[in-house]
Amino acid sequence: MPPRPDKPVARIVNAQFLLSLPKWSAKKVEPLPEICISGRSNVGKSSLINALVGQTGLARTSSTPGRTQELVVFSALARMGAHDVPFNLVDLPGYGYAKVPVALKAAWLPMMESYFDGNKRLRCCVFLVDIRRTPGSEDFELLERMAELEIPVIPVVTKVDKVSKTRRVAELRRIAESLELEDWHDLRPVSVHERTGLGELAEDIFHQLADDPLST
Ligand code: GTP
Ligand code: MG
Repeated sequence: MPPRPDKPVARIVNAQFLLSLPKWSAKKVEPLPEICISGRSNVGKSSLINALVGQTGLARTSSTPGRTQELVVFSALARMGAHDVPFNLVDLPGYGYAKVPVALKAAWLPMMESYFDGNKRLRCCVFLVDIRRTPGSEDFELLERMAELEIPVIPVVTKVDKVSKTRRVAELRRIAESLELEDWHDLRPVSVHERTGLGELAEDIFHQLADDPLST
């Protein structure tokens, strides 16, 4: 018999596309706790959503930056053992890519502000950095905004398969240092291709939601 895991594994299940909004409108979205996925364009936000929920085509992805252009809302359940927590997962458009059309760039800040400003449902921001990059000014601006709003952040390092296994810890340490994290273990390394780190991230999301009195 396989060994029994000492605790149930968390998963994100029953994900469905709800709607896509060019400007946030709380009244159009069912009032559930929200988790948003943020980061630079092309960092792998939409791909991570698909991997987390186990549906390849749910969120639209592309090798060209600027694929996600609106606030895209999915409903889902965070499941741990027999405990399900309903929530909305919001795929945010990325920032920081020079080749993204000017009109798209101009629309980004007002769209993000419409989402963050006065948002009482947002429980946590999953913040993504590519393992091959160092966080830049736009990443820090986002993190500062989350700090102002007292929104917890889960820092995720994406595309770890792009770096050899022997170099990964060094790259994680470098990113942790630039984010001023005391311990690089606070970073959640993930790879959609290797399917690594997804269960741990689902567990983090579950805990952010399950600690929330609104969601139980
Ligand atoms: P925008 O919507 O433009 O902000 O981009 P995004 O952050 O949603 O990125 P998206 O998920 O569309 O992925 C961008 C590219 O990165 C695609 O070509 C993906 O296949 C690739 N990608 C995403 N995750 C991984 C990963 O874990 N490993 C590798 N090797 N490639 C990945
Ligand atoms: Mg996207």
